[in-house]
Amino acid sequence: MTTTVVILAAGLGTRMRSKRAKVLHRAGGLALVEHVVEAARAVAPADSIVAVTGHQAEAVEELLAPRKIRFARQKKQKGTGHALACAREAAPPSDLVMVLYGDTPLLSADTLTRLRDAQAGSTAAATLITTSLDAPAGYGRVILDATDAVRAIVEEKACTPEQRAIRLINSGIYCFRADLLWAHLSEIQPTLPAGEYYLTDMAAILNTHGHRVEARHVADSSELLGINTRIELADADRLLRRRKAEQLMLEGVTIERPETVSIDSSVRIGMDTIVEPFARILGETVIGEDCRIGAGAIVESSVLADGAIVRPYTLIADSRVAEKAQIGPFARLRMNANIGMDARVGNFVEVKKSRLGAGTKAQHLAYLGDAEIGDRVNVGAGTITCNFDGVKKNETRIGSGAFIGSNSTLVAPLEVGAESYLGAGSVITEDVPKQALALGRARQVVKTDWIEKRKKTE
Ligand code: UD1
Ligand code: CA
Repeated sequence: MTTTVVILAAGLGTRMRSKRAKVLHRAGGLALVEHVVEAARAVAPADSIVAVTGHQAEAVEELLAPRKIRFARQKKQKGTGHALACAREAAPPSDLVMVLYGDTPLLSADTLTRLRDAQAGSTAAATLITTSLDAPAGYGRVILDATDAVRAIVEEKACTPEQRAIRLINSGIYCFRADLLWAHLSEIQPTLPAGEYYLTDMAAILNTHGHRVEARHVADSSELLGINTRIELADADRLLRRRKAEQLMLEGVTIERPETVSIDSSVRIGMDTIVEPFARILGETVIGEDCRIGAGAIVESSVLADGAIVRPYTLIADSRVAEKAQIGPFARLRMNANIGMDARVGNFVEVKKSRLGAGTKAQHLAYLGDAEIGDRVNVGAGTITCNFDGVKKNETRIGSGAFIGSNSTLVAPLEVGAESYLGAGSVITEDVPKQALALGRARQVVKTDWIEKRKKTE
């Protein structure tokens, strides 16, 4: 049986109180709608998934473009039933149509697979997922008949007081027989006062044609959380990050105080790596085995090889760290910093768009930008590469084994040869050949008995 998945993502999300469309808001490192597309991939190939866009459609489509799914536009947001109708043209022919809402990011692949299998093996016209909530406010209530089939779904606004007390809610996850859905979808009537077409009316419509609608109960209702407000967004973020941390721990990563760390769902971490409290590991970061990510460190879109140590309060973005290198505490790597094997980057050192070779050390208080630094170089405290001349960025090259004295100022473009020495406090403006000593500072003057002599002139 073939399945098409339609994801409704055209609404504004008024209750978010945001300039940005709700489905673009992020939780667990991805936009809400991206999580839904990922879950949908469990039951359909990318070209059988249709996202219905409307509010900020260009932004939503641009975000989802790499996932190679289809799009349909809903020009005016006239309700979930109308949104689904807008997808009909773009939807490839199929036996089943699964409908998901773009604001339910916790959905698991497992739940969708089971829903699809249940509908595929049943004679019902549709199956939908329900759960019981202690606080069902905001959700549509599901009314069952004596045989436990769905008689109707009633939106909260339309509920009688007795219906409002029902705790069985509509999760907004449905699997329809495609022929019956498309045959009867146009029978949904607009609901006053807003004149919206509620997809939820389909249950009663299918019933009037003598078809059965099944309800599948899910015990773990956290998966079905629909995000309408920023409070629910924070709940989803917390749950997604907990889910990610638990998955990593089962795979052999130690996470201390996991409730305090934020790890995006796209991150990969190797076995026996230790993540300390309050670390944030974001984007497409890949971390090897036996690494340590210190407390409060933020690692984003970077690659750390096996045995790399990131000490507390270090920021690493868009960079690479080789085996057993040690970074921090309080260091910053950014914009394609590339740190070699066993290298050290210590406190208050910033490395931007630079390569440090194997075993090279820059332990304290330095700025290394646009620099190509060889192996086993000692970069003294306070070293600065002056990479910007006011117009353009210039490069500094330092050969292997060089010794850069403390507080050196390297005015780029500049080349410092291998195994050369720069005297501490030098301003180096000209290239230094290999194995040389370069000094660029005023010679020290000592005036002996200076105090004594000054007294005499007074
Ligand atoms: C909906 C259901 C409700 C269910 C709840 C589960 C309806 C009428 N109600 O309510 O029974 O309990 O979800 O979370 O379906 N959308 C469009 N076009 C529109 C309107 C909405 O694409 O014209 C999209 C939104 O972007 C959103 C999704 O549909 O992703 C759901 O819309 P929302 O307004 O959040 O519905 P709820 O009021 O939560
Ligand atoms: Ca919702």
